[in-house]
Amino acid sequence: MPERLAVYPGSFDPLTNGHVDIILRGSKLFDRIIVAMLVNAEKAPFFSVEERVETAREVFREHPNVEVDTFDGLLVEYARRKGASVIVRGLRAISDFEYELQMALMNRRLYPDVETVFMMPGEAYTYLSSRLVKEVFALGGEITGLVPEVVEARLRRKQRHPGGSM
Ligand code: PNS
Repeated sequence: MPERLAVYPGSFDPLTNGHVDIILRGSKLFDRIIVAMLVNAEKAPFFSVEERVETAREVFREHPNVEVDTFDGLLVEYARRKGASVIVRGLRAISDFEYELQMALMNRRLYPDVETVFMMPGEAYTYLSSRLVKEVFALGGEITGLVPEVVEARLRRKQRHPGGSM
């Protein structure tokens, strides 16, 4: 049987417990899952891609079939290069659906051999997004339990040393 390899793409700025939930579910469904972080020079990310990769590798240290990588350019080209047959995306609510449908159908048109599989996170994470985590944190709100501990620690370090190397 050929290996079932899935790619879970995104910005992950930062990685939330909603992402972790999807990745762990995916790691049970597929032989290997690659968390693929988009290198996007146009956006001004909160964490550099190197910081995000390092953090995610720490979070999934004990999960040998979860890999963390970066990509730029077209996602489907990356998937093709890696030999992945599945793109995993999380669906939290109806509001995610339209954008996700567009992406899935465009990706299918570009590369019909890759199938997008949508996974629902645990209901505790259905309202969670990286954007909200950053906003709540920046305004002094509590984010414990919303992101992995290493991410929270890095957010706090960044707050203490903005612009400093992590
Ligand atoms: O979870 P996010 O941050 O919204 O992820 C969006 C992502 C990275 C999956 C999407 O922007 C993407 O695939 N970008 C790569 C460029 C690409 O392939 N664009 C065409 C998508 S149909």
